[in-house]
Amino acid sequence: MKFQKTLLGAAIAGTLASGSMAGEVEVLHWWTSGGEAAAIAVLRDMVEEEGHTWTDFSVAGGAGENAMTVLRARAVSGNPPASAQIKGLEIQEWGDLGFLASLDDVAAANGWDDFLPEEVASVMKYNGEYVAVPVNVHRVNWMWINPEVLASAGASVPTTLDELWETADQLQEAGYTAIAHGGQAWQDATIFESLVLATGGPELYSRAFVDHDEDALTSDAMREAFTHLRRVTEYLDQGAPGRDWDQATSMVIRGEAGMQFMGDWAKGEFTAAGLTAGEDYLCVAFPGTEGTFTHNVDSLAMFEQRTEANREAQQTMARLVLSSDFQETFNQNKGSIPVRLDHDMSTFDECAQASMETFLATSQSGEGLVPSMAHGMSTTSSIQGAIYDVVTAYFNSTSMTEDQAVNRLAAAVRAAR
Ligand code: GAL
Repeated sequence: MKFQKTLLGAAIAGTLASGSMAGEVEVLHWWTSGGEAAAIAVLRDMVEEEGHTWTDFSVAGGAGENAMTVLRARAVSGNPPASAQIKGLEIQEWGDLGFLASLDDVAAANGWDDFLPEEVASVMKYNGEYVAVPVNVHRVNWMWINPEVLASAGASVPTTLDELWETADQLQEAGYTAIAHGGQAWQDATIFESLVLATGGPELYSRAFVDHDEDALTSDAMREAFTHLRRVTEYLDQGAPGRDWDQATSMVIRGEAGMQFMGDWAKGEFTAAGLTAGEDYLCVAFPGTEGTFTHNVDSLAMFEQRTEANREAQQTMARLVLSSDFQETFNQNKGSIPVRLDHDMSTFDECAQASMETFLATSQSGEGLVPSMAHGMSTTSSIQGAIYDVVTAYFNSTSMTEDQAVNRLAAAVRAAR
């Protein structure tokens, strides 16, 4: 059956290079929101145009916790997909388990080392060989604003944490939900890491979330970040617990809420709704983090294949991901910026252009570019999980003090190391 399906796919597309075999590529991801689905469809179409079969394996759930659980089950039963969206240090964890396939041939043939930022390339390699291909760069420390809502509340766009609370009060007094949020551990952690960046700056952030330095984890800046996190909970609506992130973005789009603190995958939702950056909605650095960049690089890791045809389909997909055409269309839909530093940004909107500028400036100066803790860039999945637990417990508690929170945070990180 599968063979027939494959042949049929090749016949329809009819673009297989001579001597090539039509294969199947099954891709596990969690890109199910409007903007995300539009983005991944670009890859599906390109793979199919090359004559291969795309088998979509999407597992809903923001930040991919559900997807990773399903992936582990499939891998344990000896049947992993051809490719899965796996990020950051988790790529090394899968490499250690011996599952990943080398992409070195396709990387060499297409000159990946020439145009990928060194910090990104090294994360994609296991034992010096490419085993994953990066698709984009997301910036996490963004704030999304409905300007009409702010104007009708007489509020202005906040650039500092003090201003943020002023704006939030004005929005609330005017009857709006000030902050659109979904109470899920990863979303709570997404706000928390931006608060740490605002209260402690990039150096403290890195000491805490990359080095796991106990003094940093129990510092005054960390206490302050928790104090602000509690304040966030005062401006949410009753529907916040458990809400998906894209539903929160919709509240900003519909004008029910004034702002959302979320990475620029949120921009994919504004784009999918046909809205224009800078007019219908604003993207502004999370208050107090202007000039810094919390990065989150999505990537597709490759699993060993049993047949040559499927290996070929997999390698074709990897090549396509770093093609200029894919980088352009995928990232316009996804809200991220291309991972190729040589990409022409002229057709991108002002948010993406600002993102690229800050990404380049921070990576060139070596100051202000930090990996996202909440999105698996700064640490192992077990330490990330330990941090999530404490942050979410605090977020949902009215009695945990800041002292208790920082001490629990340091203890949880120590135990997970
Ligand atoms: C992030 C991922 C993004 C986006 C987001 C919401 O971890 O890097 O691509 O999908 O989760 O699901």
